[in-house]
Amino acid sequence: MEIVKLVAEIKSKISKFKSEGKTIGFVPTMGALHQGHLSLADASVKNNDITVVSIFVNPTQFNNPEDLSSYPRTIENDLEKLSVYKPDLIFIPDVSEIYPEQDTRIFEFGLLDKVMEGKNRPGHFNGVAQVVSKLFDIVSPNNAYFGQKDFQQIAVIKQMTKDLKLSVNIVSCPIIREKDGLAMSSRNVLLTEEQRKNACKISETLFKARNLAPELSVSQLKEWVVDEINKNIYLSVEYFEIVNDTTLEVIKDWNESNNKIGCITVQVGKTRLIDNVTFKY
Ligand code: PAJ
Repeated sequence: MEIVKLVAEIKSKISKFKSEGKTIGFVPTMGALHQGHLSLADASVKNNDITVVSIFVNPTQFNNPEDLSSYPRTIENDLEKLSVYKPDLIFIPDVSEIYPEQDTRIFEFGLLDKVMEGKNRPGHFNGVAQVVSKLFDIVSPNNAYFGQKDFQQIAVIKQMTKDLKLSVNIVSCPIIREKDGLAMSSRNVLLTEEQRKNACKISETLFKARNLAPELSVSQLKEWVVDEINKNIYLSVEYFEIVNDTTLEVIKDWNESNNKIGCITVQVGKTRLIDNVTFKY
């Protein structure tokens, strides 16, 4: 496991691997690693000759400066956790390496970034696309691994890959959860003990909702989920939407689409947590 900080250095290492015919797997992260991130590294190591993990807290995707400054940074710990999975290269660039100049590119995602996280965090997905396209350019991976916890992010990145005609294969990996069901997130460490205890109500409610559909209509189910979570004084639902998992169009009727996904964002004190479940009807 080798740590690389410079773009020129990682590019030259990767072109050497490519000239030897090796496949490159890539796991982009913002650090504060947990088992969710590590499951991606594990999948990449198992399916590629070379795995690159990047740790870079990308400033352009934070629409809230307080969120950026409070984002957990735990590099030593991250490296220790990664060492178990033995990825080959850990890319930890400074901001000036990735953005020697301001990135002014504007990406067009149609509806994909106008709903849910896109609507509630203006500019967020544009920042994600900026950094991921730069990282793809630097790492030129055959396969890149992303978690379904950030479901909308995967949709946006797939679209970006298509629009930029990149040959990278986007691999979507399942959500890893804590024992009580809470989706693992780097932000979970920001929760107080009481908030953390109550946060499992989010996934608990989503799992129950899966069993209530389709007896309840889509709008009844949405109302039930929001009410159920908001009953808990530590939790406040920002949105809960049930969407077509490809187009992200909001579903009004269970008959509308085959693959539906319920996506939620909940404010827990100052921390925003996201989660989702699939509905199969
Ligand atoms: P970050 O939040 O660090 O997440 C890195 C990757 O880990 C993402 O693909 C995310 O979906 C995945 N992940 C996070 N929690 C997970 C969980 N509980 N189970 C499975 N996978 C999980 O997402 C980002 O960083 C950034 O936007 C990034 C893509 C790195 C661009 O800056």
